[in-house]
Amino acid sequence: MVDASGRTLGAEEIEAVTRVIRSGMLNSVWGSEVRALEREMAAYHGVAHAVACSSGTAALHLAVAAVAPEPGDEIITSPISDFGTVAPILAQNAVPVFADVDPHTGNLDPEAVAAAIGPRTRAILGVHLFGAAVDLRAVAAAHGIPLIEDCAQAWLTRYPDGQLAGTGGAIGCFSLQQWKHITCGDGGLTITSDTVLARRMRLFADKGWPREGARRHESLGLNYRMTELAGAVARAQFAKLPGVVAARRQSAQRLVEALSDLPGVHLPSGVGAHAWWLFPVVLGPPLTNQEVAGKLAAAGIPARAGYLDEPLHCAPALNGTPVYGSSRYPLTVPPADRLPAYGRGAFPVAERLVDQSLLVIDWNERYTDAHVDEIAHAVRAAVSS
Ligand SMILES: Cc1ncc(COP(=O)(O)O)c(C=O)c1O
Repeated sequence: MVDASGRTLGAEEIEAVTRVIRSGMLNSVWGSEVRALEREMAAYHGVAHAVACSSGTAALHLAVAAVAPEPGDEIITSPISDFGTVAPILAQNAVPVFADVDPHTGNLDPEAVAAAIGPRTRAILGVHLFGAAVDLRAVAAAHGIPLIEDCAQAWLTRYPDGQLAGTGGAIGCFSLQQWKHITCGDGGLTITSDTVLARRMRLFADKGWPREGARRHESLGLNYRMTELAGAVARAQFAKLPGVVAARRQSAQRLVEALSDLPGVHLPSGVGAHAWWLFPVVLGPPLTNQEVAGKLAAAGIPARAGYLDEPLHCAPALNGTPVYGSSRYPLTVPPADRLPAYGRGAFPVAERLVDQSLLVIDWNERYTDAHVDEIAHAVRAAVSS
């Protein structure tokens, strides 16, 4: 992913950048590329609105701001994700509340999410980890709580019933960062069918400035605008997305078949619905992720133990480090009996995955059958020796 050989950047993106530079308009307030990207994104997902912004983290910040937590309200999310999932919750003065995950997918366990719901829960922020759908639609609906879907790793992921990820709740959030399925370097998109949420997100991305009339600021907002250069590249990339995901599914299917008889190795299911951002494998004892990752690295296979060095509930940012100034606000707001569970021991399934059993293999739309066969051979050797 760090050079052109692992990306789909080509003549179309060069033409897109050239088009924008020739136009002389690089800013999306007055340009046409970002607005067109939003229309294309919304149409593909069959929703009324898309709002582009400068990163996946920004997209999540727009979503969290739009669901409007009171300071100290709680948002339930996953301990296995990028910190970009959690930072926007803190930035809106809300409290990240984690729930434990499924031992085979690393995705939030719906029952654990239900158990974490309390009187101050303002939203559920589900993460479709590595591109596998986590289905929190029913638990969110049953409790009347908005569901935000973090689809940063889950472009064109589908729920088991075929619904596209990002359309199953109130807001879907996507990332266009360098390592994602499609990229413009950094960029983000949100989608929603809710006109009120869409307007709040658009205002939050542009200093609360509605742009259609007077120069006045209706609400608190930042500058999270996507540039026209990024938007034009993202449009060219978006046109390639179905091919990217189809190629990843095809090669992932080959690896699933090649490894399906291996004892002690749990493989993802639902190949055709998964987006295969990475290829995750869960190892059973006595296999450990550090040992197998070490053997794979020695064989030249890009694989890592655990995905994270520690689950997010163990991050220093949530355990003792000040959040604002020297204060831990908003983490100090809940009544003592609902202080969020952070630190080692709080979510044992997530901890076991990261520390011992989860192994992630880099995945890419450019993998050939020969690449996949080499990976299969190396995994077989690493777990058998
Ligand atoms: C699941 C998840 N959420 C959020 C983010 C944040 O996205 P970005 O890096 O574009 O800010 C990422 C990726 O980096 C991610 O993988």
